[in-house]
Amino acid sequence: MRTVYTPDSPPAKGIYPLLTASIAPRPIAWVSTLSPDGVPNLAPYSFFTIACTDPAILSITSVGRKDTYRNVVETGEFVASIGTESLMDTINATSAPVRPDVDEFAANGLTAEPSDAVAAPRVAEAPIAFECVRHDVVDLGTSAMLLGRVVSVSVRDDVLAADGLPDFAALAPPSRLGRNEWGLAPAVRRLDRPGR
Ligand SMILES: Cc1cc2nc3c(=O)[nH]c(=O)nc-3n(C[C@H](O)[C@H](O)[C@H](O)COP(=O)(O)O)c2cc1C
Repeated sequence: MRTVYTPDSPPAKGIYPLLTASIAPRPIAWVSTLSPDGVPNLAPYSFFTIACTDPAILSITSVGRKDTYRNVVETGEFVASIGTESLMDTINATSAPVRPDVDEFAANGLTAEPSDAVAAPRVAEAPIAFECVRHDVVDLGTSAMLLGRVVSVSVRDDVLAADGLPDFAALAPPSRLGRNEWGLAPAVRRLDRPGR
């Protein structure tokens, strides 16, 4: 037996929570931007993935037109930082709806560190930062997809493995599940792809 939903007959809670409870865990981009007036903005986005590898492009979806969306449209830049489990409560705190003139770094006791290639600051406390410039903004009706071309990536040395790539256990990134649930970093199993 299966329960069948369609966009016209979704579960009682709606199609949005059906999507987020099913498509999980999702990585979290901690997205920092600058407003045109220079106010630093920070918020978590879990509708986040790699959109292209060459050129390297990240995709973030704003459900509605939020401050992050407006800043990317107006300044053409964002930084997607990757946080660790120990930052989970602070990441969550930065999802609070606040006025665009509030510096969300200062409001949450975080350090806005200068980025290497863009004017938008990165989160000093987060071990990885992807600095991006606008590649495209795709209008999806009620949402908008922000596509950012990666121009610089900085990784804190304590999360780097000997091969020069981030070590998952050291990074221990939290993830977003459905409802109000978050995921802790999962156990890792190595599996080679067939024929490679
Ligand atoms: C872990 C987490 C993930 C989130 N992911 C998204 C997302 O992908 N898209 C979105 O529009 N809002 C998402 N939100 C909600 C935004 O963070 C929230 O609306 C925030 O206030 C937006 O900030 P801004 O207006 O400064 O951009 C998420 C919240 C949390 C806690």
